[in-house]
Amino acid sequence: MTRSVVVTGCGTGLGRAIFERLIRDGWAVVGLELDETRAADARSVAGAGDVITGDAGSREDLRRARDRAVELAPLGGWVNNAALPLPGNLHDPVQDEVERLFRVSLMGYYWGCSEAIQQFVAQRSPGAIVNISSIHARAAFTGWAAYDTAKGGINALTRYIAVEYGPVGIRANAIEPGAMRTELLQRVIDSDPDPARMERDMAAIHPMNRVGEASEVGSVASFLLSEDASFVTGQCLPVDGGATARCYVYPVDPTLIEAYGLETR
Ligand SMILES: NC(=O)c1ccc[n+]([C@@H]2O[C@H](COP(=O)([O-])OP(=O)(O)OC[C@H]3O[C@@H](n4cnc5c(N)ncnc54)[C@H](O)[C@@H]3O)[C@@H](O)[C@H]2O)c1
Repeated sequence: MTRSVVVTGCGTGLGRAIFERLIRDGWAVVGLELDETRAADARSVAGAGDVITGDAGSREDLRRARDRAVELAPLGGWVNNAALPLPGNLHDPVQDEVERLFRVSLMGYYWGCSEAIQQFVAQRSPGAIVNISSIHARAAFTGWAAYDTAKGGINALTRYIAVEYGPVGIRANAIEPGAMRTELLQRVIDSDPDPARMERDMAAIHPMNRVGEASEVGSVASFLLSEDASFVTGQCLPVDGGATARCYVYPVDPTLIEAYGLETR
């Protein structure tokens, strides 16, 4: 039986990769996208699904997305992905930006999860939620006070859902991406005085010594929403090339450098 799923921020980046992957998996996918041009572009590939133009920080727009999904098929999944990457600290805060960030990047997830859970309970059905968090949820980055805090909250929300709704078969998991090749990442790289150095530094965060591709988050979201993950819930899974497995940057073993022909720098 076809089921529907909502993906927020489906116009580009990780959300777009997840949106397209879930369409290929056979879901009726309803995207929620703020930018009209991106929404129209995603709508053109939505197949049996649809894209709503709206704000993932608005309860009303989240409800519109849910209602559209339920028109297409019973709701089986929900992916909260849209978030604002606004830097900031505590000693020189920009109040408007902090409030905007929390409205979309934490409360948007909270109300998105609530819409999904209300629908699953109304259907008397199980369901699966995937929250796109970040490695910022488990390790602090200077200059990202509100972003780090929002991502930590998302992990707590994910665990809460797993515990409260596990008994009725509703699962929730979070994905913690490292640096992934998206417009967001490109903006961060381009805003640096030395973009080439910045890109190398970004890659070097990960033991795999590269940034990730958006499809590498799409495939994990696909798994977590699927029956293959039927006993996986309450987990916050890094998709980060090993970044959070390491606390020290070790030199690569010379025999591996030779065997694999690795470039050293
Ligand atoms: N790119 C990375 O390196 C990276 C790393 C870790 C976590 N993440 C997380 O992944 C998620 C997606 O990031 P991305 O890099 O794909 O971002 P992006 O900026 O490339 O794309 C975000 C998409 O969401 C849309 N959007 C923004 N605000 C919205 C709103 N209020 N309502 C609806 N749509 C909205 C944008 O128009 C865009 O289409 C975010 O939660 C981000 O925190 C990204």
